[in-house]
Amino acid sequence: MSMDLAKKLYAKMPEVFAKARKKFGRGLTLADKILVSHADNFDAQTWERGKAMLALRPDRVAMQDATAQMAMLQFMQANKQKAAVPSTIHCDHLIRAEMGSAKDLLRAMDENKEVYNFLASAAKKYGIGFWKPGAGIIHQVVLENYAFPGCLIIGTDSHTPNGGGLGGLAIGVGGADAGEVMAGLPWEVLHPKLIGVRLTGKLNGWASPKDVILYLCGLLTVKGGTNKIVEYFGPGAETISATGKGTICNMGAELGATTSVFPFDQKMVAYMNITDRADLANLAQSHKDLLVADSEVYQSPEKYYDQIVEVDLSKLEPHVVGPHTPDLARPVSKLAAEAKEKGYPIELKAALIGSCTNSSYEDISRSAHIARQGLKAGLKAKASFLVSPGSERIYHTMKRDGFLDTFEQLGGTVLSNSCGPCIGQWKRADGVKGKADSIVSSFNRNFPGRNDGISETLSFLASPEVVTAYAITGDLGFDPVNQTLKGADGKEFKFQPPQGEELPAKGFAKGEEGFVAPAENGEGLTVDIPSTSERLQLLQPFPRWDGKDFERLPLLIKTKGKTTTDHISPAGPWLKFRGHLDKISDNMFLGANSAFTSEPGKGTNVLTGESNLTIAQIARDYKAKGIGSVVVGDENYGEGSSREHAAMSPRFLNVRVVITKSFARIHETNLKKQGILALTFADPKDYDKIEQQDRISVTGLNNLVPGKPVQVTIHKADGKALTIQTNHSITEQQIAWFKAGSALNALN
Ligand code: F3S
Repeated sequence: MSMDLAKKLYAKMPEVFAKARKKFGRGLTLADKILVSHADNFDAQTWERGKAMLALRPDRVAMQDATAQMAMLQFMQANKQKAAVPSTIHCDHLIRAEMGSAKDLLRAMDENKEVYNFLASAAKKYGIGFWKPGAGIIHQVVLENYAFPGCLIIGTDSHTPNGGGLGGLAIGVGGADAGEVMAGLPWEVLHPKLIGVRLTGKLNGWASPKDVILYLCGLLTVKGGTNKIVEYFGPGAETISATGKGTICNMGAELGATTSVFPFDQKMVAYMNITDRADLANLAQSHKDLLVADSEVYQSPEKYYDQIVEVDLSKLEPHVVGPHTPDLARPVSKLAAEAKEKGYPIELKAALIGSCTNSSYEDISRSAHIARQGLKAGLKAKASFLVSPGSERIYHTMKRDGFLDTFEQLGGTVLSNSCGPCIGQWKRADGVKGKADSIVSSFNRNFPGRNDGISETLSFLASPEVVTAYAITGDLGFDPVNQTLKGADGKEFKFQPPQGEELPAKGFAKGEEGFVAPAENGEGLTVDIPSTSERLQLLQPFPRWDGKDFERLPLLIKTKGKTTTDHISPAGPWLKFRGHLDKISDNMFLGANSAFTSEPGKGTNVLTGESNLTIAQIARDYKAKGIGSVVVGDENYGEGSSREHAAMSPRFLNVRVVITKSFARIHETNLKKQGILALTFADPKDYDKIEQQDRISVTGLNNLVPGKPVQVTIHKADGKALTIQTNHSITEQQIAWFKAGSALNALN
């Protein structure tokens, strides 16, 4: 399937590239090339980085089971017979980690039966590939099977950019975007700016691909990549394995980047060959000039990228980031002192490796090398040690090559091929709510509560080999890379730098693949949603805008500081209601810090005066009274994930306007898709003027046009009023969504 897509794409690339070079008056970066070759209509579009909205035609859609529920429910509202582009569903997010692979999987099949049946039946009917529970984690499976150089993939998960490891643009989107693309519409995205990262030198010793991105997280921060594509190049790029490139692209999401990409090279050829895609590798090889930037770009990159970062891989030290945010970065060698100084609990309770970010053969073999050194010294893991393989292919290869045995001898537990602790699906036996302790993982996210649902847990991120060393020492106050430790015999030893293989010499072992192809013709098939279901609910269209300005709406919540989509729509136990909008909306803002209360997720009903209510309780009361409400947010509001519930629940509970200092890209689009007005303070200091008892009017909505500020009036409790300006990035099309009540309403 990818072969056909690639053939078609490569055939049309030369012509559109020639047009683009002419139109732009310059050579093309790789990101330019992929964007223009996927334009819905190249000639008709405006191309301006940071300003233009692009309409693109993705090659493929990938969905994970948590977000697929809503994506499919939304797609079904469009009344189409079949998905318009090749699409897949991957059952990876709903499996709770507790007892190890086999038992966890059995329990998940039972607990999530309704959801799996719905997804499997909908996939079969609508021509969508279905990857069964336990088959693997979406991004690993996409890298192994679907990504190819030059492709454009959208996926309903923030870490979709993992596919950039094979030289394509893979971009995380909300379920609504996926639903629309499957319904046949082009996909809209703000034309991203470009960060060029020039890599020189070669990784050595402990330094791994993970450290490239951990270092960049510290350098560029979680906002540094917003509305930007990170394009890697330089002689260092081709020294990194394809899977290592995947890790780097995967965690570009932590920079807030639209996506990240590497130019085509021989590491990609080797990976496609070993994952049974030699035909694709040959095809890409014979079109290799199309799949890298024009040579003039590499000669004078400063003319082509909006920002350039240089990284000398030879000098890179292994890094650790966290707690609580991925941009709190430092070399491993500095962590022990910092942990002591800042009073981080130094006993490591858990060390976790694998996940979609870091379960390549290279990662696992290097980690096993560290584990073997520990075993040789008579040591076992002091911290609870958990391993999440990325796919069946990885799992069986790990098993065949003895890595599983090594980890188990060390005291490790191998979990199913799924997300588990990476997404809060972890029944952590020793976790105590309210008590801070430290864990370290090779995953990609470390928001409070992300892994074990306990917001006090201090979660650190590092490469899998560093995490394995920490598993053995169990001590954050000890530098496992540079210090010596005592073996069981009392003798001092030092871990030697990890060694491993990029790809298995014997090829990948195969297990049960877990792929179910769709029906040739799904017309007569039905989609399985029991009428009594507590987990799935068919969607009702949101009401159209009534044409009136918003007058004196109460403030539902003013969030303070970081407000991620995890804060707006927490995951963990709520994941099970992903397909039931009414039920899941009870979680709305439960993780968000309010400017007016000390307890996250709580607020006051300003109509009744009742306090200490959940935000959902307050919103339901306003909704019952036919009143809309306003949410006010801080910087980079909605960062973190593509979760569309963070936009759908507020809309469902009648939030009409969200005003922030700034938005994270995906969430801002998601709000617009649900018909919510997304505004930013023209003067960020106006944020401070908003008080709990204020009523907020948003006027002039009949004259809403792209680029024109919107007037907001704040009515104070004492009768005074002040007027402020807000900006927005709403396009003509998005105004139509607002008026129709949602993007999907605008389709029908
Ligand atoms: Fe899953 Fe974590 Fe990746 S939730 S898709 S393993 S980021």
